[in-house]
Amino acid sequence: MVCGQVLKIWLITVIRSEDGFFVSEFEKDILCIGAGYVGGPTMAMIAFKCPQYKVTVVDINENRISRWNSGNLPIYEPGLDEIVEAARGRNLFFSADIKGGIRRADIIFVSVNTPTKTFGAGAGMAADLQYWERTAREIRECSDSPKIIVEKSTLPVRTALAMEKILTAENNGINFDVLSNPEFLAEGSAIKDLEDPDRVLVGSRETPAGLKARDQLVEIYANWVPKDRILTTNIWSSELSKLVSNAFLAQRISSINSISALCEKTDADVTEVSRAVGMDSRVGHKFLNASVGFGGSCFKKDILNLVYLCRHYGLEEVADYWDGVLRINDYQKRRFILEMLAAMFNTLAGKRICMFGFAFKANTGDTRESPAIGIAGRLLEERAELVISDPKALENARADLKGIPGKVSYEEDPYAAASGCDAVAVMTEWDVYRELDYSAIFRSMSKPAYIFDGRNILDHKRLHEIGFNVFPIGKVALTHF
Ligand SMILES: NC(=O)c1ccc[n+]([C@@H]2O[C@H](COP(=O)([O-])OP(=O)(O)OC[C@H]3O[C@@H](n4cnc5c(N)ncnc54)[C@H](O)[C@@H]3O)[C@@H](O)[C@H]2O)c1
Repeated sequence: MVCGQVLKIWLITVIRSEDGFFVSEFEKDILCIGAGYVGGPTMAMIAFKCPQYKVTVVDINENRISRWNSGNLPIYEPGLDEIVEAARGRNLFFSADIKGGIRRADIIFVSVNTPTKTFGAGAGMAADLQYWERTAREIRECSDSPKIIVEKSTLPVRTALAMEKILTAENNGINFDVLSNPEFLAEGSAIKDLEDPDRVLVGSRETPAGLKARDQLVEIYANWVPKDRILTTNIWSSELSKLVSNAFLAQRISSINSISALCEKTDADVTEVSRAVGMDSRVGHKFLNASVGFGGSCFKKDILNLVYLCRHYGLEEVADYWDGVLRINDYQKRRFILEMLAAMFNTLAGKRICMFGFAFKANTGDTRESPAIGIAGRLLEERAELVISDPKALENARADLKGIPGKVSYEEDPYAAASGCDAVAVMTEWDVYRELDYSAIFRSMSKPAYIFDGRNILDHKRLHEIGFNVFPIGKVALTHF
């Protein structure tokens, strides 16, 4: 320390490259395998906050890597462009050289996809660990120095044990320490969540080597996250906590959605019920908005995984309990379609229906497991014609509906999309849909005109005054019949 100034001591590390030696001015060489919704933003934040580390993100998908290196990033996330722009080329790099990246790295985050298995034992429930296992084998084959391996992907509890077994199977004398560091970011607010997380969870083996590795990972986050929000646990608690967190969040949505059905039968209003219940500080108001159902790549697959694990351990009642969360989610989507059919005289054939939103939630272009996909499919089965509108998700929507027979068109401008339609169905809670000129939209639509508000975000009374027949979730419908 000199005159209150902290003198940064840069460690000069010598790194072996294929064609000799070069000197790196970085304190640590961090690699992330998997440049998706988690790997990209997480590593961009580490690089942005820690210019003393070199951060490289690699992926087998070369097209994805070239988009990370372009002005047109592969994912939309508010604030992401700015931090990538600030760090890319300085200490943040995107590359398709996975082997070289592994060789050079001190710390490797594994952030590959872990979807639900679609074949063989556990199909439709268990996590498909083929991408993850391929990565573990590649790390073993390319490593010639000790490394810390960080599980960033969401994995079944006790996966770290399998990871350790694969890494040490050849007994090549190289030491690997496996840590669990699940990611809790939510798409749409990923940058905010990464910059100011509720908590960072680091699970490790409770051996001297495991604790030493844990401290190195904690040191990275401590560059910007207050120490009291960095939680350290044993490795199994960390793996399980991620599955349980998602299950608890999804459970709240299914709980209020189940009550929305009861509200519709009893003239209670689900928004009022949700407010009254949520104001109890023991319950809290978050994740209590009734809707057409939850989506996203994680909730369904992680709960299926939890259910599968419970059945594996013979805990049938526990498995059934969590399975109920998923069943209510499917029920809510079915109910929405049945309500549309009943309201529109039991036939949708040849009717034009405009979907406002296709992303699984606002502020993301991600459509994985979006309720809109299943609802679009069902509407097409009923021979409705669809016009799909979304500010960020049309590219993904086109891919999701490719090959499904029926008439579908795509139109980003919501006014043009709704024009000439019989009904508008709100699928995503984008702010832009709250602020439209619904009088103009009403004038441009076929009559009678319907609005099915699958997110309860619109001013229903006002829409009814304009002339719409309005069908919210969990509230009395406002019609002119
Ligand atoms: N999306 C979320 O909101 C979120 C939040 C928290 C945790 N997670 C978890 O994080 C993990 C990643 O999720 P995601 O949404 O980023 O997935 P993603 O599909 O967007 O990205 C995964 C990437 O890994 C790459 N990949 C697969 N196998 C590879 C290999 N062998 N070598 C190199 N690259 C490989 C894929 O090409 C893909 O680009 C999952 O386990 C998920 O459950 C996701």
